[in-house]
Amino acid sequence: MEPEKPSLTSRRQFLARTGGAAASVLAGVSLPAVHAQGSSLIRVALIGCGGRGSGAAYNALSTKGGPIQLVAMADAYEDRLKSSYLGLSNALKDKVDVPEDRRFVGFDAYKHAMDCLKPGDVAIFATPPAFRWVHFQYALQKGLHVFMEKPVTVDGPTSKRMLQMAEEATAKNLKVGVGLMSRHARNLQELQQRVQNGELGEILLMRGYRMHGPVAFFESRPKPPNISELEYQVRRFHSFLWASGGAFSDFYIHIIDHLCWMKNAWPVKAQALGGRHYKTAPDGTPFVDQNFDTYSVEYVFADGTRLLFNGRCINGAEGIYSSYLHGTKGFAIASRSNDCGGPSAIYRGQDATGMPLWQSRDNSNPYQNEWDALISAIRNNKPFNELKRGVEASVVTSMGRMAAHTGREITYEQMLNCPHEFAPGLDRLTADSPAPLQADAQGRYPVPKPGILTDREY
Ligand SMILES: NC(=O)c1ccc[n+]([C@@H]2O[C@H](COP(=O)([O-])OP(=O)(O)OC[C@H]3O[C@@H](n4cnc5c(N)ncnc54)[C@H](O)[C@@H]3O)[C@@H](O)[C@H]2O)c1
Repeated sequence: MEPEKPSLTSRRQFLARTGGAAASVLAGVSLPAVHAQGSSLIRVALIGCGGRGSGAAYNALSTKGGPIQLVAMADAYEDRLKSSYLGLSNALKDKVDVPEDRRFVGFDAYKHAMDCLKPGDVAIFATPPAFRWVHFQYALQKGLHVFMEKPVTVDGPTSKRMLQMAEEATAKNLKVGVGLMSRHARNLQELQQRVQNGELGEILLMRGYRMHGPVAFFESRPKPPNISELEYQVRRFHSFLWASGGAFSDFYIHIIDHLCWMKNAWPVKAQALGGRHYKTAPDGTPFVDQNFDTYSVEYVFADGTRLLFNGRCINGAEGIYSSYLHGTKGFAIASRSNDCGGPSAIYRGQDATGMPLWQSRDNSNPYQNEWDALISAIRNNKPFNELKRGVEASVVTSMGRMAAHTGREITYEQMLNCPHEFAPGLDRLTADSPAPLQADAQGRYPVPKPGILTDREY
Protein backbone atom coordinates (compact mmCIF):
# COMPACT_ATOMS: atom_id res chain seq x y z
CA MET A 1 0.00 0.00 0.00
CA GLU A 2 1.54 3.28 -1.08
CA PRO A 3 -0.61 6.19 0.05
CA GLU A 4 -0.63 9.21 -2.21
CA LYS A 5 1.68 11.98 -1.03
CA PRO A 6 0.05 15.33 -0.56
CA SER A 7 1.75 18.39 -1.92
CA LEU A 8 0.03 20.99 0.19
CA THR A 9 2.57 23.73 0.27
CA SER A 10 0.68 26.95 -0.01
CA ARG A 11 -2.53 28.38 1.38
CA ARG A 12 -3.84 28.74 -2.17
CA GLN A 13 -3.32 25.06 -2.93
CA PHE A 14 -4.76 24.17 0.44
CA LEU A 15 -7.96 26.06 -0.24
CA ALA A 16 -8.20 24.74 -3.77
CA ARG A 17 -7.94 21.17 -2.53
CA THR A 18 -10.01 21.35 0.61
CA GLY A 19 -12.61 23.54 -1.02
CA GLY A 20 -12.98 21.22 -3.99
CA ALA A 21 -13.89 22.55 -7.38
CA ALA A 22 -15.87 25.44 -5.95
CA ALA A 23 -12.96 26.94 -4.04
CA SER A 24 -11.20 27.67 -7.29
CA VAL A 25 -13.68 30.49 -7.68
CA LEU A 26 -12.21 32.20 -4.78
CA ALA A 27 -10.71 29.98 -3.36
CA GLY A 28 -42.47 12.70 5.07
CA VAL A 29 -42.68 14.89 8.14
CA SER A 30 -45.94 16.16 9.46
CA LEU A 31 -44.35 19.38 10.65
CA PRO A 32 -45.44 22.56 8.89
CA ALA A 33 -43.20 23.65 6.03
CA VAL A 34 -40.97 26.65 6.69
CA HIS A 35 -41.68 28.73 3.57
CA ALA A 36 -39.23 28.56 0.62
CA GLN A 37 -40.56 25.25 -0.57
CA GLY A 38 -41.07 23.72 -3.98
CA SER A 39 -39.77 25.88 -6.77
CA SER A 40 -40.01 29.25 -5.03
CA LEU A 41 -36.96 31.51 -4.69
CA ILE A 42 -34.54 30.57 -1.93
CA ARG A 43 -32.48 33.50 -0.72
CA VAL A 44 -29.03 32.96 0.75
CA ALA A 45 -26.84 35.03 3.09
CA LEU A 46 -23.12 34.32 3.37
CA ILE A 47 -21.54 34.94 6.77
CA GLY A 48 -17.77 34.52 6.66
CA CYS A 49 -16.64 35.35 3.14
CA GLY A 50 -13.29 33.54 3.05
CA GLY A 51 -12.14 30.62 0.92
CA ARG A 52 -14.66 28.05 2.08
CA GLY A 53 -17.54 30.46 2.54
CA SER A 54 -17.14 31.63 -1.03
CA GLY A 55 -16.90 28.01 -2.19
CA ALA A 56 -20.01 27.04 -0.20
CA ALA A 57 -21.95 29.98 -1.69
CA TYR A 58 -20.86 28.84 -5.15
CA ASN A 59 -22.13 25.32 -4.39
CA ALA A 60 -25.40 26.70 -2.99
CA LEU A 61 -26.01 28.79 -6.11
CA SER A 62 -25.16 25.78 -8.32
CA THR A 63 -28.00 23.64 -6.94
CA LYS A 64 -30.87 22.71 -9.30
CA GLY A 65 -34.58 22.44 -8.65
CA GLY A 66 -35.59 26.08 -8.41
CA PRO A 67 -34.36 29.65 -8.25
CA ILE A 68 -31.73 30.52 -5.68
CA GLN A 69 -29.94 33.79 -5.11
CA LEU A 70 -27.24 35.23 -2.87
CA VAL A 71 -28.76 38.39 -1.38
CA ALA A 72 -26.54 39.39 1.57
CA MET A 73 -22.94 39.01 2.69
CA ALA A 74 -21.24 39.59 6.06
CA ASP A 75 -17.65 39.48 7.17
CA ALA A 76 -15.64 40.81 10.07
CA TYR A 77 -13.27 42.46 7.58
CA GLU A 78 -13.99 44.48 4.48
CA ASP A 79 -11.11 43.17 2.34
CA ARG A 80 -12.36 39.59 2.72
CA LEU A 81 -15.92 40.55 1.84
CA LYS A 82 -14.82 42.56 -1.17
CA SER A 83 -12.75 39.81 -2.79
CA SER A 84 -15.45 37.21 -2.16
CA TYR A 85 -18.12 39.48 -3.66
CA LEU A 86 -16.01 40.16 -6.73
CA GLY A 87 -15.26 36.48 -7.27
CA LEU A 88 -18.84 35.31 -6.81
CA SER A 89 -20.45 38.08 -8.84
CA ASN A 90 -18.03 37.47 -11.71
CA ALA A 91 -18.62 33.73 -11.66
CA LEU A 92 -22.40 33.71 -11.14
CA LYS A 93 -23.66 37.13 -12.20
CA ASP A 94 -27.44 36.64 -12.29
CA LYS A 95 -27.48 34.67 -9.05
CA VAL A 96 -25.69 37.31 -7.01
CA ASP A 97 -27.87 40.23 -5.98
CA VAL A 98 -25.89 41.84 -3.18
CA PRO A 99 -25.94 45.62 -3.53
CA GLU A 100 -23.66 47.61 -1.28
CA ASP A 101 -26.36 48.15 1.34
CA ARG A 102 -26.61 44.38 1.80
CA ARG A 103 -22.85 43.92 2.38
CA PHE A 104 -22.09 44.15 6.08
CA VAL A 105 -18.79 44.40 7.92
CA GLY A 106 -17.99 43.86 11.61
CA PHE A 107 -18.72 41.42 14.41
CA ASP A 108 -22.45 42.23 14.31
CA ALA A 109 -22.59 41.96 10.50
CA TYR A 110 -24.11 38.47 10.82
CA LYS A 111 -27.28 39.94 12.28
CA HIS A 112 -27.72 42.47 9.50
CA ALA A 113 -27.16 39.81 6.82
CA MET A 114 -29.70 37.44 8.40
CA ASP A 115 -32.13 40.35 8.79
CA CYS A 116 -32.21 40.48 4.95
CA LEU A 117 -33.69 36.94 4.87
CA LYS A 118 -37.19 35.60 5.51
CA PRO A 119 -38.04 32.42 7.41
CA GLY A 120 -37.21 29.49 5.14
CA ASP A 121 -34.20 31.14 3.50
CA VAL A 122 -30.66 29.87 4.12
CA ALA A 123 -27.71 31.33 6.04
CA ILE A 124 -24.18 30.02 5.42
CA PHE A 125 -21.78 30.11 8.37
CA ALA A 126 -18.14 29.87 7.31
CA THR A 127 -16.34 31.99 9.88
CA PRO A 128 -13.88 30.38 12.30
CA PRO A 129 -15.87 27.84 14.35
CA ALA A 130 -15.78 29.82 17.62
CA PHE A 131 -18.60 32.00 16.27
CA ARG A 132 -20.86 29.13 15.20
CA TRP A 133 -23.09 29.04 18.29
CA VAL A 134 -23.47 32.83 18.29
CA HIS A 135 -24.62 32.89 14.67
CA PHE A 136 -26.80 29.80 14.98
CA GLN A 137 -28.59 31.25 17.98
CA TYR A 138 -29.72 34.16 15.81
CA ALA A 139 -30.68 31.93 12.85
CA LEU A 140 -32.88 29.86 15.18
CA GLN A 141 -34.58 33.00 16.42
CA LYS A 142 -35.23 34.07 12.83
CA GLY A 143 -36.44 30.65 11.59
CA LEU A 144 -33.68 30.25 8.99
CA HIS A 145 -32.26 27.09 7.48
CA VAL A 146 -28.48 26.90 7.89
CA PHE A 147 -25.41 25.42 6.31
CA MET A 148 -22.49 25.61 8.74
CA GLU A 149 -18.90 24.60 8.17
CA LYS A 150 -17.04 22.18 10.40
CA PRO A 151 -15.91 22.08 13.17
CA VAL A 152 -19.12 23.28 14.79
CA THR A 153 -17.66 23.53 18.31
CA VAL A 154 -14.20 23.53 19.88
CA ASP A 155 -14.90 23.05 23.61
CA GLY A 156 -17.32 21.45 26.09
CA PRO A 157 -19.64 24.31 27.06
CA THR A 158 -20.35 25.42 23.48
CA SER A 159 -20.91 21.79 22.45
CA LYS A 160 -23.64 21.41 25.07
CA ARG A 161 -25.19 24.68 23.91
CA MET A 162 -25.17 23.52 20.30
CA LEU A 163 -26.69 20.11 21.15
CA GLN A 164 -29.57 21.92 22.80
CA MET A 165 -29.98 24.20 19.79
CA ALA A 166 -29.88 21.19 17.43
CA GLU A 167 -33.01 19.90 19.16
CA GLU A 168 -34.70 23.27 18.90
CA ALA A 169 -33.94 23.39 15.16
CA THR A 170 -35.57 19.98 14.62
CA ALA A 171 -38.60 21.06 16.64
CA LYS A 172 -38.90 24.13 14.41
CA ASN A 173 -38.50 22.00 11.25
CA LEU A 174 -35.38 23.91 10.25
CA LYS A 175 -32.90 22.14 7.97
CA VAL A 176 -29.25 22.21 9.03
CA GLY A 177 -26.34 21.04 6.89
CA VAL A 178 -22.85 20.63 8.39
CA GLY A 179 -19.76 20.80 6.17
CA LEU A 180 -18.48 17.31 6.98
CA MET A 181 -18.60 16.56 3.26
CA SER A 182 -17.13 13.05 3.61
CA ARG A 183 -20.66 12.01 4.56
CA HIS A 184 -21.78 13.09 1.07
CA ALA A 185 -18.84 11.54 -0.80
CA ARG A 186 -20.39 8.71 -2.85
CA ASN A 187 -17.27 6.51 -2.53
CA LEU A 188 -17.48 6.67 1.26
CA GLN A 189 -21.28 6.26 1.32
CA GLU A 190 -20.93 3.04 -0.66
CA LEU A 191 -18.01 1.80 1.43
CA GLN A 192 -19.94 2.53 4.62
CA GLN A 193 -22.91 0.48 3.36
CA ARG A 194 -20.60 -2.41 2.48
CA VAL A 195 -18.84 -2.27 5.85
CA GLN A 196 -22.21 -2.16 7.64
CA ASN A 197 -23.34 -5.15 5.49
CA GLY A 198 -20.38 -7.11 6.86
CA GLU A 199 -18.15 -7.24 3.78
CA LEU A 200 -15.07 -6.54 5.96
CA GLY A 201 -16.28 -8.81 8.80
CA GLU A 202 -15.73 -7.31 12.26
CA ILE A 203 -13.66 -4.11 12.22
CA LEU A 204 -10.47 -4.61 14.21
CA LEU A 205 -8.59 -1.39 13.56
CA MET A 206 -8.98 1.86 11.64
CA ARG A 207 -6.14 4.21 10.71
CA GLY A 208 -6.18 7.82 9.55
CA TYR A 209 -3.34 10.15 8.55
CA ARG A 210 -3.01 13.77 7.64
CA MET A 211 0.65 14.64 7.46
CA HIS A 212 2.09 17.43 5.33
CA GLY A 213 3.90 20.73 5.70
CA PRO A 214 2.51 23.71 7.60
CA VAL A 215 -0.54 25.06 5.71
CA ALA A 216 -3.03 27.88 6.16
CA PHE A 217 -2.45 29.65 9.52
CA PHE A 218 -0.91 26.66 11.27
CA GLU A 219 2.05 28.81 12.30
CA SER A 220 2.16 32.42 13.49
CA ARG A 221 4.96 34.82 14.28
CA PRO A 222 4.55 37.48 17.00
CA LYS A 223 1.83 40.00 16.17
CA PRO A 224 3.05 43.00 14.17
CA PRO A 225 2.20 46.43 15.63
CA ASN A 226 -0.19 47.51 12.85
CA ILE A 227 -3.03 45.12 13.72
CA SER A 228 -5.10 44.66 16.89
CA GLU A 229 -4.61 41.55 19.01
CA LEU A 230 -8.20 40.48 18.29
CA GLU A 231 -7.93 40.92 14.54
CA TYR A 232 -4.62 39.04 14.48
CA GLN A 233 -6.16 36.06 16.26
CA VAL A 234 -9.37 36.03 14.23
CA ARG A 235 -7.59 36.27 10.90
CA ARG A 236 -5.03 33.59 11.85
CA PHE A 237 -7.59 31.34 13.52
CA HIS A 238 -5.84 27.99 12.94
CA SER A 239 -3.10 29.22 15.29
CA PHE A 240 -5.44 29.77 18.24
CA LEU A 241 -7.37 27.12 20.14
CA TRP A 242 -10.25 29.42 21.12
CA ALA A 243 -10.95 30.35 17.51
CA SER A 244 -10.62 27.00 15.73
CA GLY A 245 -9.63 24.21 18.10
CA GLY A 246 -6.25 24.64 16.39
CA ALA A 247 -4.89 22.65 13.50
CA PHE A 248 -6.02 19.45 15.22
CA SER A 249 -9.73 20.26 15.13
CA ASP A 250 -9.68 22.21 11.89
CA PHE A 251 -7.56 19.85 9.79
CA TYR A 252 -8.22 16.41 11.26
CA ILE A 253 -11.95 16.30 11.92
CA HIS A 254 -12.88 14.95 8.46
CA ILE A 255 -10.90 11.72 8.64
CA ILE A 256 -11.75 11.13 12.31
CA ASP A 257 -15.44 11.67 11.49
CA HIS A 258 -15.62 9.40 8.47
CA LEU A 259 -13.75 6.55 10.15
CA CYS A 260 -16.18 6.69 13.10
CA TRP A 261 -19.04 6.62 10.58
CA MET A 262 -17.62 3.45 9.02
CA LYS A 263 -18.08 1.79 12.40
CA ASN A 264 -21.33 3.64 13.04
CA ALA A 265 -20.21 4.58 16.54
CA TRP A 266 -18.30 7.26 18.42
CA PRO A 267 -15.24 6.36 20.49
CA VAL A 268 -15.67 6.50 24.25
CA LYS A 269 -12.17 7.66 25.12
CA ALA A 270 -8.77 8.66 23.75
CA GLN A 271 -5.14 8.81 24.81
CA ALA A 272 -2.58 10.65 22.74
CA LEU A 273 0.92 11.96 22.15
CA GLY A 274 2.08 15.18 20.57
CA GLY A 275 4.71 17.85 20.72
CA ARG A 276 6.11 21.14 19.51
CA HIS A 277 9.36 20.33 17.74
CA TYR A 278 10.30 23.25 15.48
CA LYS A 279 8.78 26.39 16.85
CA THR A 280 11.33 28.84 15.50
CA ALA A 281 11.40 30.16 11.93
CA PRO A 282 14.68 29.77 9.97
CA ASP A 283 15.48 33.44 10.75
CA GLY A 284 15.16 32.78 14.48
CA THR A 285 11.72 34.37 14.95
CA PRO A 286 9.61 32.28 17.31
CA PHE A 287 6.36 30.74 16.11
CA VAL A 288 3.85 31.78 18.74
CA ASP A 289 0.78 29.71 17.76
CA GLN A 290 -0.69 27.12 20.17
CA ASN A 291 -0.40 24.08 17.87
CA PHE A 292 1.66 20.95 18.35
CA ASP A 293 3.61 19.95 15.23
CA THR A 294 2.72 16.29 15.68
CA TYR A 295 -0.27 14.45 17.12
CA SER A 296 -0.85 10.72 17.50
CA VAL A 297 -4.20 9.70 18.98
CA GLU A 298 -5.53 6.27 19.96
CA TYR A 299 -9.31 6.41 20.08
CA VAL A 300 -11.09 3.50 21.80
CA PHE A 301 -14.67 2.38 21.03
CA ALA A 302 -16.96 0.73 23.60
CA ASP A 303 -16.18 -2.73 22.16
CA GLY A 304 -12.42 -2.14 22.36
CA THR A 305 -11.87 -1.43 18.65
CA ARG A 306 -9.13 1.16 18.04
CA LEU A 307 -8.93 4.12 15.69
CA LEU A 308 -5.40 5.46 15.31
CA PHE A 309 -4.99 8.97 13.95
CA ASN A 310 -1.66 10.61 13.13
CA GLY A 311 -1.39 14.29 12.24
CA ARG A 312 1.77 16.21 11.41
CA CYS A 313 2.62 19.63 9.97
CA ILE A 314 6.35 19.42 9.26
CA ASN A 315 8.10 20.14 5.97
CA GLY A 316 10.41 17.44 4.64
CA ALA A 317 8.80 14.60 6.58
CA GLU A 318 6.83 11.81 4.90
CA GLY A 319 3.51 13.04 3.51
CA ILE A 320 0.49 10.79 4.08
CA TYR A 321 -3.12 11.95 3.82
CA SER A 322 -5.51 8.98 3.67
CA SER A 323 -7.53 6.48 5.77
CA TYR A 324 -7.86 2.67 6.12
CA LEU A 325 -9.90 -0.07 7.79
CA HIS A 326 -8.83 -3.56 8.84
CA GLY A 327 -11.52 -6.20 9.38
CA THR A 328 -11.63 -9.93 10.04
CA LYS A 329 -12.50 -10.54 6.37
CA GLY A 330 -10.33 -7.94 4.66
CA PHE A 331 -8.86 -4.48 4.28
CA ALA A 332 -10.35 -1.24 2.92
CA ILE A 333 -9.05 2.07 1.68
CA ALA A 334 -11.55 4.73 2.75
CA SER A 335 -9.98 8.01 1.60
CA ARG A 336 -7.22 7.31 -0.93
CA SER A 337 -6.01 10.90 -0.72
CA ASN A 338 -7.05 14.06 1.11
CA ASP A 339 -10.16 14.20 3.30
CA CYS A 340 -12.39 11.82 1.32
CA GLY A 341 -10.84 11.22 -2.11
CA GLY A 342 -11.78 8.09 -4.03
CA PRO A 343 -11.70 5.54 -5.26
CA SER A 344 -12.43 3.67 -2.05
CA ALA A 345 -11.76 -0.06 -2.30
CA ILE A 346 -12.02 -3.39 -0.46
CA TYR A 347 -9.32 -6.10 -0.64
CA ARG A 348 -8.97 -9.66 0.58
CA GLY A 349 -6.17 -9.88 3.18
CA GLN A 350 -4.76 -6.97 5.16
CA ASP A 351 -3.22 -4.72 2.52
CA ALA A 352 -3.85 -3.42 -0.98
CA THR A 353 -1.99 -6.12 -2.89
CA GLY A 354 -3.97 -7.98 -5.52
CA MET A 355 -7.15 -6.99 -7.29
CA PRO A 356 -9.72 -5.16 -5.20
CA LEU A 357 -12.92 -7.10 -4.49
CA TRP A 358 -14.74 -3.79 -4.96
CA GLN A 359 -13.77 -0.31 -6.00
CA SER A 360 -15.95 2.84 -6.07
CA ARG A 361 -16.67 4.63 -9.37
CA ASP A 362 -18.66 7.76 -8.50
CA ASN A 363 -16.34 10.77 -8.33
CA SER A 364 -18.99 13.45 -7.95
CA ASN A 365 -18.02 16.48 -5.90
CA PRO A 366 -18.99 15.94 -2.23
CA TYR A 367 -19.10 19.72 -1.67
CA GLN A 368 -21.83 19.95 -4.31
CA ASN A 369 -23.58 16.77 -3.12
CA GLU A 370 -23.96 18.17 0.42
CA TRP A 371 -25.67 21.28 -0.95
CA ASP A 372 -27.89 19.33 -3.33
CA ALA A 373 -29.06 17.27 -0.33
CA LEU A 374 -29.77 20.32 1.85
CA ILE A 375 -31.61 22.32 -0.81
CA SER A 376 -33.61 19.28 -1.92
CA ALA A 377 -34.67 18.71 1.73
CA ILE A 378 -35.77 22.34 1.95
CA ARG A 379 -37.69 22.28 -1.34
CA ASN A 380 -39.36 18.95 -0.56
CA ASN A 381 -39.78 19.56 3.18
CA LYS A 382 -37.93 16.41 4.20
CA PRO A 383 -36.27 16.07 7.63
CA PHE A 384 -32.63 17.20 7.44
CA ASN A 385 -30.58 18.15 10.45
CA GLU A 386 -26.91 17.16 10.59
CA LEU A 387 -26.12 19.29 13.62
CA LYS A 388 -26.22 16.70 16.43
CA ARG A 389 -23.88 14.50 14.45
CA GLY A 390 -21.69 17.53 13.65
CA VAL A 391 -21.40 18.41 17.33
CA GLU A 392 -20.59 14.79 18.21
CA ALA A 393 -17.84 14.70 15.58
CA SER A 394 -16.51 17.98 16.95
CA VAL A 395 -16.50 16.64 20.54
CA VAL A 396 -14.74 13.42 19.48
CA THR A 397 -12.12 15.49 17.68
CA SER A 398 -11.67 17.79 20.68
CA MET A 399 -11.34 14.69 22.90
CA GLY A 400 -8.27 13.53 20.92
CA ARG A 401 -6.82 17.02 20.98
CA MET A 402 -7.33 17.40 24.72
CA ALA A 403 -5.77 13.98 25.36
CA ALA A 404 -2.62 15.11 23.50
CA HIS A 405 -2.58 18.54 25.11
CA THR A 406 -2.98 17.25 28.67
CA GLY A 407 -1.16 13.92 28.44
CA ARG A 408 -4.19 12.28 30.06
CA GLU A 409 -6.78 9.78 28.88
CA ILE A 410 -9.92 11.78 28.11
CA THR A 411 -13.39 10.24 27.84
CA TYR A 412 -16.17 11.54 25.63
CA GLU A 413 -18.13 12.51 28.73
CA GLN A 414 -15.15 14.35 30.20
CA MET A 415 -14.72 16.33 27.00
CA LEU A 416 -18.38 17.21 26.72
CA ASN A 417 -18.56 18.23 30.37
CA CYS A 418 -15.18 20.00 30.53
CA PRO A 419 -16.08 23.44 31.93
CA HIS A 420 -13.27 25.34 30.17
CA GLU A 421 -15.01 27.62 27.67
CA PHE A 422 -12.15 28.96 25.57
CA ALA A 423 -13.77 32.29 24.64
CA PRO A 424 -16.77 33.21 26.77
CA GLY A 425 -18.90 36.16 25.70
CA LEU A 426 -18.32 35.95 21.96
CA ASP A 427 -21.94 37.02 21.45
CA ARG A 428 -20.96 40.44 22.81
CA LEU A 429 -17.68 40.80 20.89
CA THR A 430 -16.88 44.11 19.18
CA ALA A 431 -13.82 45.18 17.22
CA ASP A 432 -12.61 46.97 20.39
CA SER A 433 -13.03 43.99 22.73
CA PRO A 434 -9.91 42.48 24.28
CA ALA A 435 -8.76 39.36 22.44
CA PRO A 436 -9.74 36.07 24.13
CA LEU A 437 -6.04 35.19 24.45
CA GLN A 438 -3.34 37.47 25.83
CA ALA A 439 0.31 37.39 24.73
CA ASP A 440 3.27 37.73 27.10
CA ALA A 441 5.91 40.46 26.76
CA GLN A 442 7.63 38.46 23.98
CA GLY A 443 4.36 38.10 22.04
CA ARG A 444 3.98 34.44 23.00
CA TYR A 445 0.65 32.83 23.83
CA PRO A 446 0.07 30.05 26.38
CA VAL A 447 0.68 26.58 24.95
CA PRO A 448 -0.47 23.18 26.20
CA LYS A 449 1.77 21.50 28.78
CA PRO A 450 1.01 17.77 28.85
CA GLY A 451 1.50 16.26 32.29
CA ILE A 452 1.70 19.69 33.94
CA LEU A 453 -1.59 21.26 32.95
CA THR A 454 -4.05 18.38 32.95
CA ASP A 455 -7.56 19.70 33.55
CA ARG A 456 -7.50 22.28 30.74
CA GLU A 457 -5.55 22.67 27.53
CA TYR A 458 -3.82 25.98 28.25
N1 LIG B 1 -15.26 21.37 4.64
C1 LIG B 1 -14.04 21.67 4.25
O1 LIG B 1 -13.37 20.92 3.60
C2 LIG B 1 -13.46 23.00 4.64
C3 LIG B 1 -12.39 23.53 3.93
C4 LIG B 1 -11.86 24.76 4.32
C5 LIG B 1 -12.38 25.40 5.42
N2 LIG B 1 -13.42 24.85 6.10
C6 LIG B 1 -13.98 25.51 7.30
O2 LIG B 1 -14.56 26.74 6.92
C7 LIG B 1 -14.35 27.71 7.95
C8 LIG B 1 -13.63 28.90 7.33
O3 LIG B 1 -12.38 28.49 6.82
P1 LIG B 1 -11.67 29.24 5.59
O4 LIG B 1 -10.57 28.36 5.16
O5 LIG B 1 -12.69 29.65 4.61
O6 LIG B 1 -11.05 30.52 6.34
P2 LIG B 1 -10.93 32.00 5.77
O7 LIG B 1 -10.01 32.74 6.69
O8 LIG B 1 -10.61 31.96 4.32
O9 LIG B 1 -12.41 32.57 5.95
C9 LIG B 1 -13.00 32.89 7.19
C10 LIG B 1 -13.73 34.21 6.99
O10 LIG B 1 -14.53 34.49 8.14
C11 LIG B 1 -14.38 35.88 8.45
N3 LIG B 1 -14.74 36.07 9.86
C12 LIG B 1 -14.02 35.77 10.96
N4 LIG B 1 -14.75 36.00 12.07
C13 LIG B 1 -15.94 36.48 11.66
C14 LIG B 1 -17.11 36.91 12.36
N5 LIG B 1 -17.20 36.84 13.69
N6 LIG B 1 -18.16 37.38 11.62
C15 LIG B 1 -18.07 37.44 10.27
N7 LIG B 1 -16.98 37.03 9.56
C16 LIG B 1 -15.95 36.56 10.26
C17 LIG B 1 -12.92 36.17 8.12
O11 LIG B 1 -12.66 37.54 7.99
C18 LIG B 1 -12.76 35.40 6.82
O12 LIG B 1 -13.15 36.13 5.70
C19 LIG B 1 -13.55 27.00 9.04
O13 LIG B 1 -14.43 26.51 10.03
C20 LIG B 1 -12.91 25.85 8.32
O14 LIG B 1 -12.66 24.73 9.13
C21 LIG B 1 -13.97 23.67 5.73
